[in-house]
Amino acid sequence: MKALVLSGGAGTRLRPLTHTSAKQLVPVANKPVLFYGLEAIADAGITEVGIVVGDTADEIREAVGDGSKFGIEVTYIPQTAPLGLAHAVVIAREFLADEDFVMYLGDNFIVGGISDLVESFRAERPTAQILLTQVSDPKSFGVAELGPDGRVVGLEEKPEVPKSDLALVGVYLFTPAVHEAVRAIKPSWRGELEITHALQWLIDADLDVRSTTISGYWKDTGNVNDMLEVNRSVLERAEPRIEGLVDAASEIIGRVQIDEGAQVTASRIVGPAVIGAGSVVTGSYIGPFTSISRDCTITDSEIEFSIILDGSSVRGASRVEASIIGRNVEVTPAPRVPAAHRLILGDHSKVQISS
Ligand code: G1P
Repeated sequence: MKALVLSGGAGTRLRPLTHTSAKQLVPVANKPVLFYGLEAIADAGITEVGIVVGDTADEIREAVGDGSKFGIEVTYIPQTAPLGLAHAVVIAREFLADEDFVMYLGDNFIVGGISDLVESFRAERPTAQILLTQVSDPKSFGVAELGPDGRVVGLEEKPEVPKSDLALVGVYLFTPAVHEAVRAIKPSWRGELEITHALQWLIDADLDVRSTTISGYWKDTGNVNDMLEVNRSVLERAEPRIEGLVDAASEIIGRVQIDEGAQVTASRIVGPAVIGAGSVVTGSYIGPFTSISRDCTITDSEIEFSIILDGSSVRGASRVEASIIGRNVEVTPAPRVPAAHRLILGDHSKVQISS
């Protein structure tokens, strides 16, 4: 069995972060979201992994390399334009050969991994196996309609009027029968070859498309709120570990990871939280569900339920909450006179000011 991981896509909902970085590489608890997926694939005993890459190919290649650090062997498959998930299967034909495969969307996050799912697919080998989960906004997803016996009878991509609240999760298992389906379908209204349509084609051909509904934790980390939520859930499971320097005037409470080379001085850190190597926290409060990446400087500030990426500094910010701050950002207090906000924000930035 092989794996096909999709890591193209523009990541428009995570702008401005995705102007400079692939959405699959935005870190959750200081580790790129894509790495959790690759680890889950390796844990399921799959070693041959094709990664479909687009405009951010160089960055993905640099982060993942040949895959050896995950115990997998990676083949990169360039996709010239984001023409859809089924298009990714079309261009991966040679890599996939005639083997069964799991298709994994690189910005999806599944707590508990995929080992059980892969094992039962290997044992039973239906034509295809999908995962479903209840969502509050089915219009944003592929949506499944189940018959009275629980079989999938219909699938629609981003429907105006959803027939259920069961969304397709971004992990699919296929036998080689899918190759005929992806070649048979036509592009959707959004100009993409939809995997949802390929699945519908298999259902219409009376082939065995099974679904499992999961209630465990799943997120498509394509937007800021979900990203913060996944970060929260991963931090809740993180092992406390203090390897950096914490002075006697500081207080560390709960599940806190302080990496080697980080420094905490006269500060209060309330977990779950992580502070990456080279970061310096001084006279500050870091509250629950916060990930500070590497080489950040946090001074005289309060930060909670947030993600701060590499090399950024926050100084004199009385309270920062539910925020994602990109790389090498500077947040500083304004001079007292004139009392004004001074903002230099990149394209598609979002700022909420409280005064
Ligand atoms: C894709 C699929 C959709 C699925 C979703 C899960 O949507 O087309 O069916 O529910 O992933 O993350 P997209 O990310 O392309 O909007």
